[in-house]
Amino acid sequence: MDIDVFTLFPEAFDWFAGQRHVRNAAARGMRLECVSYRDHTPLSGGQVDDTPFGGGAGMVLRVDVVDAALRARYGRDPVELHGQRRVVALTPGGRLLDDELASELAAERALTLLCGRYEGFDERIVEHLATDAVSIGRYVLSGGELAAMVLCDAVIRKLPGSLGDETSAVEESFSPALEGAPEYPHYTRPAEFRGWAVPDVLLSGHHARIREWRLEQARRRGSGEAKPLR
Ligand code: 6GU
Repeated sequence: MDIDVFTLFPEAFDWFAGQRHVRNAAARGMRLECVSYRDHTPLSGGQVDDTPFGGGAGMVLRVDVVDAALRARYGRDPVELHGQRRVVALTPGGRLLDDELASELAAERALTLLCGRYEGFDERIVEHLATDAVSIGRYVLSGGELAAMVLCDAVIRKLPGSLGDETSAVEESFSPALEGAPEYPHYTRPAEFRGWAVPDVLLSGHHARIREWRLEQARRRGSGEAKPLR
């Protein structure tokens, strides 16, 4: 997996890139690189954004700037890139990121993520330069960087070998292995604390019964029958 993140703030990804599971994935051939729009802008003074036509607050990332950055990175017309790689614009109105979309993106050979800033993108970026528009929730962040990191995290943990235990991404919340339900509850030592006991079945050593109990718990959480997680 080969991930390029286009951003005005490449240094924002330093912390993320240093995380254990990201380094594990990198050791297994995943590549995560940031490209600064500003390094490729054809405008003077490092300009990358502009005031919106029609008026209104804030600044909008320019389409010519994003085109130039993609062109510099890939050496061709970015529109012709679409057969080769998914180009994902991070924008609050995009397709909601969920486990299914994360799996779909994790199966790609290469991804390009476009982060917007301030009021966002010139719509022609989303319409013509991107293949996909993705949102991490129905609220507005100040930029796409946090959303890109969330997307990368959800995707990278699905790559083989990025988690310590090979099985841990398979049977986690919202995965097909749990029928799309939230994960079952976990417990560890002590077995009793302030009178709060761990369910007996988990201490029984009876693996078939434990598996059945966990699936049942995941189902109950999924159906809203159990106490919602606050
Ligand atoms: Cl992808 N971008 C921004 N700016 N805000 C968001 C978002 C993305 N997803 C949810 N809110």
